[in-house]
Formats: sequence, structure tokens, C-alpha cells
Amino acid sequence: MARTVFKTAEAGASRLVGSIPTLSRHDSTIDAHYEVKSLKNGMRPGFLKTLGGEAGCKRLSAEFYARVGKDPVLRPLFPGKSLRCATEEFAAFLIQFLGGDEDQAQSRWWLSLRESHARFQIGAAERGAWLKHMQATLDAVQMDDGARKALRQFFFESSAYVTGKETAAWESGELGARWAEQRALDECIAAIAGGRDQEALAFAPRFASRPSVFVGLLARMMQSRREPLIRFVIDAVQREPSLMTRRFAGKTLLHFASGAGCLDVVESLLRLGADPNTRDDGGHTPLYRVANECASEAGPEIVRALVRAGGDVNASGGVTRTTPLHMAARRGFMGIAQALLDCGAAADAKDTKGDSPLQRALNCRRKEVARLLAGRAS
Ligand code: HEM
Repeated sequence: MARTVFKTAEAGASRLVGSIPTLSRHDSTIDAHYEVKSLKNGMRPGFLKTLGGEAGCKRLSAEFYARVGKDPVLRPLFPGKSLRCATEEFAAFLIQFLGGDEDQAQSRWWLSLRESHARFQIGAAERGAWLKHMQATLDAVQMDDGARKALRQFFFESSAYVTGKETAAWESGELGARWAEQRALDECIAAIAGGRDQEALAFAPRFASRPSVFVGLLARMMQSRREPLIRFVIDAVQREPSLMTRRFAGKTLLHFASGAGCLDVVESLLRLGADPNTRDDGGHTPLYRVANECASEAGPEIVRALVRAGGDVNASGGVTRTTPLHMAARRGFMGIAQALLDCGAAADAKDTKGDSPLQRALNCRRKEVARLLAGRAS
């Protein structure tokens, strides 16, 4: 069996921690997580305490973004009236990064720092402004000089990294070790995005001890729809069924699998007892996710599998109380709309505006679905 050896850093010392087998059809890289010493095991959350715990991280983020909100260079990067989401996401990152509550990952959309910043033009002016406000924010927190210097160094390095620059190897101390771990996570996401499956599979088990982060990784694997990655996901949940109840960005694996059109994963999760009516933090069920996102041909089969397992085909949710049929109509997903109707979806359901699925299809010029729904209405 091919093995990939990788390096991590722990509390100031860089050392080899594990030998990760690459996936073959009959063995799984998930085994490797038992061989890998998690960063968290050997690491005291020293900087979390320095910053005042989770409440301190939230304060730091709020104070930092209050400054960003007034900055003429940075403010245009954050369209919209409020910086509330950005503040919550940055606080969640800090807490999670510094070894606090892992479930904070639920408040994040991205796992990879480089990926989350790739859509912005961040040049020297933006980075300079960001660092200036971060330093002023840190200066207002009481801490010893050594801790302040280490945090400054961390933000100096990480701000260069998010702009795409390669930074000098820096693995000393708690922050260096945690940064090496974050870089590994970024590498894993980049490998998934770049189609380098063996690389992704070699990195991924390292995060199995961080369930919310791991669910985020598994979600990315499912979105790739590539077979070796899908097999890894199924293997992971079979070994650790409690992953079914964990969330990333407010969603469970069943929401992600349904939206990504991964029928095999949906069926495995349902066999293991996943709740087909579980709601994401927007109030939506997995059936809504299929109807809203699943452009793949597996969509109708996923609808049937969810309904067979007890999924409520007429569950309405979210601010506008839309049903899965409203969403299939809006997206123009003909096969899914047909499967929902076959499973008993109400063609005359009304959302908060009083619109039926037919009205939604007409609003979005989905002629084929509109014809199907008009036939049902009569
Ligand atoms: C170099 C200067 C930087 C600029 C101009 C910048 C700008 C931004 C912008 C515009 C967003 C999107 C906010 C949104 O969509 O809500 C964002 C998100 C974020 N930034 Fe930065 N950023 C910088 C550096 C950093 C650094 C150094 C870190 C961490 C050490 C960081 C951590 C984050 C996190 C965690 C998010 C939210 C992504 C998520 O988890 O969903 N940023 N940043």
C-alpha cells in the first residue's frame, strides 16, 4: 500500500506524526486518523485564554470590524449595510483556530482561508489597512508583550498568505503549530478543488477529530461528485455515525448530500438513521435542498428515497415558507418536480406572498414545469 508521510508542528517542535495510507478499494484512509496525533490533544488553548476566551474573541472581532466599517479602503470590500456576518465569521474562525468550541464552524461558510479571500482584490493597500486596524485592536487588549508580538506575527504572516503570497516557514510556538494545521486544511480543500484526490484523501483523516470541520470537508468532497471522494464520505459516516448530527455552515451531511445529488450517500445516511426532516439553520429540510440545488439526474431518486424514509414532501420553511415544489418550480427542475408530485406534493401550496409553485414557475419563465403544474392544478 502506498503511504504518504506528512509533517505537523506541535507546541514549538516540528515532527513526523503519522503515516497516512492512500485509499484503495478495500481499505480506508479513515483508519489513519487513529494513527495521527491530533493537534488538539497536545495543545493547551493558551492564546484563547490570553484573548479572554470565546467571549474575548467575539469582542475582538466586533472591535476590529467596527474599525473596518469606517475604513475607506476596506469598507467597499464588504457590501451591504451590516458587517454582522463578517464579524460572526471572524469570531468563529478565531475561536475554532485557537482550540475553542469546534461547533463554531457552523457560523462559517468556508474552511480554507485562501479560498474565502480569492474572490476579492486584496493588494498592498487593503492588507496594510487590515493590519493597521488589527494592530490597534490588539493594542487595546491587555496581554503580555510576548503574546502581543506572537499575535502580530501571526496576523502579519496570515494576511500575506490570504493574498496568495507564499510566506516563510514558521512553525514555532502554539500559533505556529495552529497555523500549520490551518495551512494543511487549506491544502486539503485546494486538493479537492484541483482534482488531486489522493492528496485530499491523505490530508482529510487528520481532521476527523474535529467533527464540524470534518463535515465541511466531507461536504466539499460530495460537491466534487468524484467516486473516490464519495466512497471516503460513506466510509467515514459508517465508522462514525455521530457525524450525521454534526453541522457545518448550519447544515448536516444529509442536507449537503441531497443538494449535491449524492444518492449513495443519502441512502447510507438514511440507513444509518439520519432524520429526513432535519432542518438547517435556514429552516429547510433535505427535500428543499434537492429541489433548490440538485441539477444532477439523481435528484428525482433522492426525492423518493427521502420520502420513503419519512420525509415530509410538503414541509415549508424559511422566511417565505416555501415548499420543495416551489423551489423545483423556481429552478425549473422538471424531474424533481415530477417526483415531488408523484410523492404527494401539494400543487396548490402557498408561500407567504400567496404564490403557488405554478406562479413561481411562471415568474421564473420555467415553461416546462409550468405546463406540468398547470395540468395538476386543473
Ligand atoms: C489581508 C487583508 C484581509 C482582507 C482585506 C480581508 C477581507 C475579507 C473579506 C472582504 C471577507 C468577506 C466577508 C464576507 O463575505 O462576509 C473576509 C472574510 C474572512 N476573513 Fe478576511 N481579510 C483579510 C485578512 C484575513 C486574515 C489574515 C484572516 C485570518 C487570520 C482572515 C479571516 C477571515 C475569515 C475567517 C473570513 C470569513 C470566511 C468564512 O469563514 O466563511 N482574513 N475577509
